[in-house]
Formats: sequence, structure tokens, C-alpha cells
Amino acid sequence: MATASVGAIAAVSRSVPAYGNITKKAGKLAILGGEPVRKNKSWPEWPYWDQEVLDSLMKTAKSRIWCRIQSSSGTVPTFEKKFAELMGAKFCIATGSGTQSLHTCVEALGIGPGDEVITSPYTDPGTIASILAARALPVLADLDRQSYQFDPDDVERRITENTKAIMPVHMMGQPCNMEAIMRIAKKHNLKVIEDACQAHLAEYQGKQVGTIGDVGCFSFQSSKTIACGEGGGIIGDNEELMDKCYTVHNHGTSRRGSTEVAGPKYRMNEFEAAVLLGQLSGVQERFARRNENAAYLSARLKDVPGVVPQKLYEGTASGSFYLYPMSYLKEHFNGADRSTFLKAVDAEGVSLSPYISQGLHREPWIENILSQKVYKKMFSQERLQKYRDEKACPNCDKVCEEMAMIWASGPLLGTKEDMADIADAIKKVYENRDKLNSI
Ligand SMILES: Cc1ncc(COP(=O)(O)O)c(C=O)c1O
Repeated sequence: MATASVGAIAAVSRSVPAYGNITKKAGKLAILGGEPVRKNKSWPEWPYWDQEVLDSLMKTAKSRIWCRIQSSSGTVPTFEKKFAELMGAKFCIATGSGTQSLHTCVEALGIGPGDEVITSPYTDPGTIASILAARALPVLADLDRQSYQFDPDDVERRITENTKAIMPVHMMGQPCNMEAIMRIAKKHNLKVIEDACQAHLAEYQGKQVGTIGDVGCFSFQSSKTIACGEGGGIIGDNEELMDKCYTVHNHGTSRRGSTEVAGPKYRMNEFEAAVLLGQLSGVQERFARRNENAAYLSARLKDVPGVVPQKLYEGTASGSFYLYPMSYLKEHFNGADRSTFLKAVDAEGVSLSPYISQGLHREPWIENILSQKVYKKMFSQERLQKYRDEKACPNCDKVCEEMAMIWASGPLLGTKEDMADIADAIKKVYENRDKLNSI
């Protein structure tokens, strides 16, 4: 496997902070009785709150405006305006979750029974739930093994006469190859719904992700870099389409007050928006810190051949760093399997996670869906068989096997010493790779 792309290196080197190369002496591995790199130190906690968040919640409680339709100047409409501004979009509609935002967009674009939407198998189940909820067929395209994003060539191969939209998922908070995706969408006349649920404020070719396709969707679930427990948001510039989204998410009732379609009730509540409004003032600063820390980590990890940070596409200026992902290549670690590596790093006081254990193409939902009476009615037998025959995503399987990542919303807000601890722990395990097979 090759190392990160030119784009990745360019994006990283532009902003490497002057932390210097703080390296702790390698020594004996902690898992074998040595001194750990990091001891008795905590990471910044997440989700974030401060007095501003509490004041905002209290103000909402006292106002007795607890539901968005009670006032056009309540917390939800105010948050929608501010979030649209922050993202460089004309409009925003807040919802109860990222999944609800995605489903709202699928419905508003008129995608339904018999239609197909191409997305990634390496994602949260909410991505495909949004397509299944509309009784459309989620078609999963294999990944680029180094970027963990779906591969535009495989997306194009999977287009059929039923395909109505592409749903790129900006995994780990970094942009997909949107230049290629938008080219394919234009060529085949397809809509693009960006799943930016992990990618708040990430910038690609001068635009924030979520503003490149027809619509973009975000999650504000607790772990995300902008969080309120459960919440979501749709952004877009097309007023007519965003109006439709409003109608769908508001149980089919339009801004004009008439019930025009059958729709779910996906409105964000005023308390969720109060939490979001209360944390907006510090969002840019935290975003910049995560990017600075990630650049430092990537620069330090260049010396460790078997730990390769996520490849970024040309034009990536910044990421949300919801997660900081790396590929663990055991051939550089004396053949030690990933679980041994993770245990050894953990003993050094740094916790890495394997993240998603298997791609969605391997989940039993596929067979359950394909054998349902309703899907058999909507799609020909040949189409469903072809779907089964082509469901393999071998690059996604590799990514699941190789992933070692840091939950970054909190930890990447740490100090330069915290970042040095992460790099040193990984480096120490690398330098002791000949001992890993004795663990
Ligand atoms: C990539 C992606 N898509 C969709 C979702 C669904 O968002 P939510 O949990 O807010 O419904 C998530 C949530 O983690 C996600 O990470």
C-alpha cells in the first residue's frame, strides 16, 4: 500500500505547528512491564459545555417557547440562520438527527419505491436507513482503501437505469473526492445528497462540505464536533428544494400552513437548539485546534511506516477531525495482528479503536430486504440477483481490518504534550515491534 497522496501531504504541511519533535525514549513496552509513555493524565472531555450553554438552556426553559412552531425567533430558527451562515449556505433546516435529515432529503427529492441511491458501505447505519425508509434501494460502492471514502469509479460502475442519486459520505470528517462525484452526477443526471454527518466545517476546493451537492446533512449527536445529544441539520441553496425539505420534516405541512404531503415529524426541539447556540461561539477555535493537532500528529507519524494517516484528496483544506484515522499495516510490525498492536498502545496510555467492525454490505439487512415482498415487487428478479452477486466490497473489508483511530472530538482538543504522547506511544510500539509476537 502506498503512503498518503500528494494532496494529503500538501494539506498537512501547510499548517504543521511549531511544536518541535518531542520524543520520549522508547524503552521497554509497558505491556511487558516497562514505564508507560502516558500516566495519570486525562483527555479533554466531550461533549463540551460551559456557562454559555447552561445560560442558553435556562433562557429557553424560562421563555416557555419549547417548540419551533411557537415562534419564528425561537432557538431553532435562530440556530438555522447561524448555522447556514457558518457553513456558507443560504438555508438550513434543523431536525432531530442526521438520519432524519438524510431521509427528509431523499423524500424531498422525490426518491422512493423502485429507485436506487448509491452510497458507501463504510458508514453509520443511519445513512442506509434514510434510503430504506423511503423504500428505495441502497447500493453500496467499494472504497478507496487509503481514503476510506467510496471510490468514484466504482460508483459509476454501479449506476443503473433506476439510480436517482449519489450519497457521498464524508467519512471521518474529511471530504470525499467531490470533483469526481459531481462530474459523474452531472453526466448521469443524478442528485447529490452529501452525508456530512461527521464533517462539520471541513473545506474542499474553497467550499465547506455540505454545500457542494444539492443538499448536505449533518448530525449533532453527542459525539460529533458540534453536539446537542441528538440533532441534525440540512443545508442548501435551492429555496424550492429546501422548502420541500421543510414540508417533509414538518409532518407534510408547509411553511404556508397547508398539509401537502404525507411526512414524518422530524422537527428539532428548542432545547437542542439552545445547546447548539450556546456552543457556537467557540466552534471555530476548537475546529482550528483539532486541525493544528492533527497536522502535528500526521507529521510525527511520517516516521512510522506501518501507521498511515487517512489519505486526503487534492483540494482538502481542513477536516472536522471528528475522528483521527490511520491504517495499521502489520507487515511493518513484524506481522503482529492489529489487536496486539492496539493492546500494546493502550498499555502506553493511549487508546486507539478499530471503529466499524464490518462494512454494511456484510450485514444481514441485505438479505432481509431483498427477500421482502415489497422489494420483490419493486425490482425485477434479475436486478435483485445482480445486487446479491455484486455486493462484495473487498477494499472496505481491508479498511475494517486495518483501521486504528482516535475518537478525536475531545482528545484532539488536547495540548501539544497530549499529541506528543499519542505519537510517542505509537512510535515506541513500532520501535519494539520485534517483541510484539511475545505478547
Ligand atoms: C456518517 C454518518 N452518517 C449518518 C449518521 C446518522 O446521524 P444520527 O446518529 O444523528 O442519526 C452518522 C452518525 O453517527 C454518521 O456518522
